[in-house]
Amino acid sequence: MITTFQQHILHQQREVPYASGDFSWLLSGLTLAAKMIEAKIRCAGLCNIVGTAGQTNIQGETQQKLDVFANEALLHCLGVRDCVAALVSEENDEPVTFDRPPGEGKYVIVFDPLDGSSNIDVNVNVGTIFSIYRRKEDERSSGLDSVLQPGNCQVAAGYVLYGPSTMLVYTAGRGVYGFTLDPTIGAFVLSHDRMQMPERGKYYSCNEANAAQFPEHYRSYLEDLRISKAGQEYSSRYIGSLVADFHRTLLKGGVFLYPPTAGHPEGKLRLLYEANPLALIAEQAGGLAINGDEAILNLQPRGIHQRTPLVVGGRSEVERFLDLIREPQ
Ligand code: AHG
Ligand code: MN
Ligand code: MN
Ligand code: MN
Repeated sequence: MITTFQQHILHQQREVPYASGDFSWLLSGLTLAAKMIEAKIRCAGLCNIVGTAGQTNIQGETQQKLDVFANEALLHCLGVRDCVAALVSEENDEPVTFDRPPGEGKYVIVFDPLDGSSNIDVNVNVGTIFSIYRRKEDERSSGLDSVLQPGNCQVAAGYVLYGPSTMLVYTAGRGVYGFTLDPTIGAFVLSHDRMQMPERGKYYSCNEANAAQFPEHYRSYLEDLRISKAGQEYSSRYIGSLVADFHRTLLKGGVFLYPPTAGHPEGKLRLLYEANPLALIAEQAGGLAINGDEAILNLQPRGIHQRTPLVVGGRSEVERFLDLIREPQ
């Protein structure tokens, strides 16, 4: 018998006292947008959705047409739900806020509408990444307080991976669950129950073209992996879409790193809508996620597009990184 994502949410909601239907209504907005994005990706070369949209976003990136489509789909599908107070997107300079009747607007959602944009035109996996927070309701807190919460305040987080199959990987803090879109019925169906990241894997993943710019301890860590210093042989895999590189790490173990570089001294990946959601998934699956020395989930964001270095993976690989930086230099 199948379990759809909607059934899973309703089952989980029974365990949460006083949970209203808002949360499942909110998540149905996410899955609707994901299906709209997936439909475009499936026919990318035929429906004029590849190539650039001709404008630059606040990140200084040339927006791809699919970045814009995915962003508009999410803003629309989530914006029409009264339980959403604000939306933060990689593609919007500022948060999008909504005036809601009293008692409404309980949630804030931050998202990367289309992750891995450089891979769209070459038909390689791309994704959507999201985090859900409860809006801070005490009158002293400003709207920005609600969107600049540390990752350990996430109510739920996940990603959609558009690949040979389309998967939704999700956690609400009680385990990680994977759902595969069944195109014959148009529903996300449970396919990976209580996902666990292998304690140790055989892949390391980073853009080694930047290696000469990595801080020294990152370079020696990677050298140790290459020479199997800890007795584990590693192979290198790098897709260039964070969601795809992370998903492989979640299933097979190992480690993904995006270290500081000369071009991105703070790291390239964004804390709110890339590192935090994946860090919650990683920790819920038994892995670890750090910014090079502290847990991603403990970081207090200063800005909605703040960047961070990221080292995420199995307990064994990430703890070895931490041991290395704690060794007397
Ligand atoms: P986005 O497409 O949302 O801007 O994210 C791109 C990110 C991430 O997906 C990937 O891990 C990283 O950029 C790849 O960066 P490099 O091309 O510098 O390796
Ligand atoms: Mn981008
Ligand atoms: Mn991204
Ligand atoms: Mn993106």
